[in-house]
Amino acid sequence: MADLVRYAAAFESAVSNPEAFWTAAAERVAWIKPPVTTRQIRGDGLADWYEGGTLNTCHLALDLHVEQGRGDQVALIYDSPASGEILQWTFSELLAEVARLAGLLTSNGVSLGDRVIIYLPMVPEAVFAMLACARIGAIHSVVFGGFAAKELATRIDDATPKVLLTASCGLEFDQVIPYLPLVDEACQLARHKVATRIILQRKQLRATLRHGDLDWQTVIALAEPVGFVEVPASHPLYILYTSGTTGKPKGVVRDHGGHAVALLQSMAETYGAAAGDVFWAASDVGWVVGHSYIVYAPLLTGCTTILFEGKPVRTPDAGTFWRVIEAHRVNVFFTAPTAFRAIRKEDPMGDRLKDYDLSSLRQVFVAGERTDPSTFQWLSSLLKRPIIDHWWQTETGWPVAGVPQGYADDLAILEGSAGVVLPGFEVVIVDEQNRPCAANETGAVVLKLPLPPGCLPTVWNDHSRLVAAYLQAYPGYYHTGDGGYVDEAGYLFIMGRTDDVINVAGHRLSTGEMEAIVAAHPAVAECAVVGVQDRDKGQVPVGLVMLKDNSAAAFSEIQKELIYQVRKEIGAFANFKLVIEVARLPKTRSGKILRKTLRQIADGLTVEAPPTIDDPKILEEIASGFIQSGIGEIARQSHG
Ligand code: COA
Ligand code: AMP
Repeated sequence: MADLVRYAAAFESAVSNPEAFWTAAAERVAWIKPPVTTRQIRGDGLADWYEGGTLNTCHLALDLHVEQGRGDQVALIYDSPASGEILQWTFSELLAEVARLAGLLTSNGVSLGDRVIIYLPMVPEAVFAMLACARIGAIHSVVFGGFAAKELATRIDDATPKVLLTASCGLEFDQVIPYLPLVDEACQLARHKVATRIILQRKQLRATLRHGDLDWQTVIALAEPVGFVEVPASHPLYILYTSGTTGKPKGVVRDHGGHAVALLQSMAETYGAAAGDVFWAASDVGWVVGHSYIVYAPLLTGCTTILFEGKPVRTPDAGTFWRVIEAHRVNVFFTAPTAFRAIRKEDPMGDRLKDYDLSSLRQVFVAGERTDPSTFQWLSSLLKRPIIDHWWQTETGWPVAGVPQGYADDLAILEGSAGVVLPGFEVVIVDEQNRPCAANETGAVVLKLPLPPGCLPTVWNDHSRLVAAYLQAYPGYYHTGDGGYVDEAGYLFIMGRTDDVINVAGHRLSTGEMEAIVAAHPAVAECAVVGVQDRDKGQVPVGLVMLKDNSAAAFSEIQKELIYQVRKEIGAFANFKLVIEVARLPKTRSGKILRKTLRQIADGLTVEAPPTIDDPKILEEIASGFIQSGIGEIARQSHG
């Protein structure tokens, strides 16, 4: 129990004296100039962290390790069953790559504060590019390679980058996905014109470059390495766009100073990882997990990180994760539960595991969605190691809850729970009137202000969006958008989103955005898109569509067109494949669609008609529509 006392003491000290707690945590960072103040609370309730401090994240991730004698340790392993390559770079080699790419960006006019869009598959150049931007104080915005042209265009217009870095193709299972047609379309759609496009030609597909495009390999060979620039703690490191309740994604901003402190803290305390460990987050650099735990946190800590270009299955089989763990002696592994469900489907008895030696592996961390008890039990009995569900989001940048391994190996892991609240955060469950709920009572999961370092200081281009989206609903708190409860022992249970965000195979998507696409179809009078539970992907979207009276086309045709359009405008990973026709949608008397009620029907819950509903009979119609189409079966089963 001694460890439990250490966790409790750390938690308590962060609550009672946050200044001292975060001043001590900042000692992990090799600042160029140390901060003058630790925390200054702003008018909006958030805080400015480490004012007066200067640093450079790339310096901390690379140069410093070389200076401290870690130059010959492997920093990055690129393991790609998709391309058949396994390559590696020591800290010294990675520094050389990054310094040269930083030089290339500089010679193309990129300087302090300029934005660079990185639209790359899981290739090492994506890591080089992020660090190269950090090195020169440019702000990167990585766009997930699965996003379609329109999404890329939206991000180009919001971030207004000088340079766009991309590749000729991505590799998805046995498919080669050409990138340039998408990039060309995005550049055409965007109002902002990118000055320079640098294209990485992959051997699987050589793209025809446009006039003015630079060939990555040609120009990098001529580039001169550059040093790092000193930036203030508050200088933006990156913008990462995330789906919210509106159609327009929010540009979550991350700073250099608070981010470095928070990530170093999380690696030591939450993941129990130290310099020399091999850390593998099987995610994508396009998501926050990739930013924080493929690139920045492991490298800042002096760990070896793995960039995996493949899938948990069919690249080539369900043993691929176990192969990577054995081959690179992985100590800490992190992925989304959906990946394990995919493995379990193909290898239910875990036979593949017998072929590999997993003795290096200490813990497995899972996040991105709730780990369902069945997957948790399967994995625990198979691996016989701690399986640690932990909860956080793009906006926080690092875990809010989990079972911290740096304090305690014997802190209990509770099936179905996202763990205890981690030192630095204060989670409160509140009801609709912003009153704290009792233990075990479900409500909105909110975080007490100010948020700790590393969390978003603003939304790019529009601070008022941060205030409106996160700070207004529950005064004094940050609104996470999740619902859940805390039990008597302080364990947090996240039960799902309470807004129009869904999690599909670990990918965060806005149903509002899909709704806007569906609504734009000429035959559609009204529509709603909600998430339904799915055995493999956790959730998938379903469209409820009311056709115009004069619509002549057959519904099956319209259905196909809608599915095609969402795939074209957002991307295939949205998994928008279910569309049902409804005669009416439930609305309030003032004409507002009752989306929360629709979500409850989709979740198989007993729904009480809200007092404002126009006609309660519609709820039965919708529920029977779901039953007839076999949609929401899993949810109905789980609610008996
Ligand atoms: N580029 C282009 N297309 C992509 C893509 C990418 N980066 N990622 C997914 N897609 C496509 C897929 O090829 C598929 O296309 P299809 O409809 O033509 O077959 C479609 O999007 C659906 O993708 P997905 O839902 O991801 O299913 P999948 O079968 O390809 O893979 C998993 C399933 C579980 C392996 C995968 O979703 C996964 O690894 N998820 C984890 C996500 C994650 O890391 N989240 C971060 C939190 S840790
Ligand atoms: P993202 O910003 O893409 O990381 O998605 C964040 C959202 O994913 C959270 O708000 C939750 O809804 C969900 N999520 C992440 N981790 C967990 C978890 N461990 N348990 C339940 N939901 C999670």
